[in-house]
Amino acid sequence: MYLTRISLNNFRVFTRLDLKVPRRIILMVGDNAQGKTSFLEAVHFFSVFTSIQAGSDRQLINFLSLKETQPVARLVMSFSRTNQLRRMEIRLILENGRNGSMRLRKEVLVDGVKRTLQEALGGFHSVIFLPQMTSIIEGSPYERRRYLNMTISQAYSGYAKTLSEYKQAVLQRNALLKQIAEHNSDPRQLDYWDELISDKGAFLIYMRIKTITELEKHARHIHKNLLNQSEILQWVYQPSYDPISESANQIAFNTVSLVDRSEYSQEQIQTGFRKKLQGIKRDEIFRGVTTIGPHRDEIRFLNNGVDLGIYGSRGQIRTALISLKLAEVDWLHDKSGEWPVLLLDETLAELDLQRRADLLESLQKCEQLILTTTNKNLFSKKFLESCVIWKVASGQINE
Ligand SMILES: Nc1ncnc2c1ncn2[C@@H]1O[C@H](COP(=O)(O)OP(=O)(O)OP(=O)(O)O)[C@@H](O)[C@H]1O
Ligand SMILES: [Mg+2]
Repeated sequence: MYLTRISLNNFRVFTRLDLKVPRRIILMVGDNAQGKTSFLEAVHFFSVFTSIQAGSDRQLINFLSLKETQPVARLVMSFSRTNQLRRMEIRLILENGRNGSMRLRKEVLVDGVKRTLQEALGGFHSVIFLPQMTSIIEGSPYERRRYLNMTISQAYSGYAKTLSEYKQAVLQRNALLKQIAEHNSDPRQLDYWDELISDKGAFLIYMRIKTITELEKHARHIHKNLLNQSEILQWVYQPSYDPISESANQIAFNTVSLVDRSEYSQEQIQTGFRKKLQGIKRDEIFRGVTTIGPHRDEIRFLNNGVDLGIYGSRGQIRTALISLKLAEVDWLHDKSGEWPVLLLDETLAELDLQRRADLLESLQKCEQLILTTTNKNLFSKKFLESCVIWKVASGQINE
């Protein structure tokens, strides 16, 4: 997969940009605050339809355009997938909401036809690495769930839809639990929501088990071979509803432990999940919230058995994140038969020369790779000769 052209209007610092993109390795060189990261963010937006770094997608609209009556950021991209040229357009429209507040509306057109975000997801694959993404390892469980959701959504379009239905169902079930506690609703109504939540939730849990197992396999291999790490990198999925603790002949695991859940079918997970929800009904009515399920899942990353989120050094966390991201590349290739576009922001600075060279060598398999740097001298002459160099300054890009 590779992009052939991109144009941006009022997207962050890019008031107007129209650019042909070669099917090559592209090195974006520029001083601080010129638009390098924003450009990668724009490309990745076509894969996930949300910003990977902004707290709110509104921040993506160029702030000078906010004075206009209806500020719009427009992103258009042509890309090749299975040798077919496709076109995707995204509009971020800031408009008046009902109660006088401003709200952001997103529109997506694929080959000229309007699609819902869920329909358009998975059309274009990219993997992005930003240095601040170490928060996937060190940050809150929410950030890890978000990361996993975005990753799975690129390969399985149905996942995002189910996730959104699940979240909606949890909100409604929570409202009902509160009403029951206040004696304003019949507890039997919970059965409907338990069925729905366990059905949607089981799919999410099943997909997470499967994806984590697959990603871990790739990550472990990359960590060991490519990054010359003698340590073993492991992912530990800790589902809030855990099918394992329900099995008669299994012990419940409360600590960080490595267990295989891959033999559980979606049906088994659903049955167990629903039963568990029924078992904790009283407690949940008392608390007024749904206390178990994928919305409370956790994932930990271990290096030789040691939890990186708690004890990892800066360098260990950085290399683990590189392994994670490169695993995504191989995983997406497994899923679709196409290499995703790889976007690396200031990735190589902390690696030594040999590892940098090995890494760049291994990335030649991607059809398109966009890297950013403030310092061209970090790269060998041989590498510089092999890529296209873009100069980025004040939201303008020139070859
Ligand atoms: N919504 C926006 N409207 C206009 N400008 C914005 C908006 N959001 C961010 N910017 C500005 O865009 C500029 C480029 O930011 P970006 O993070 O892309 O820079 P960078 O080249 O990656 O810099 P660094 O090397 O420091 O990482 C910054 O000056 C930032 O303040
Ligand atoms: Mg940057």
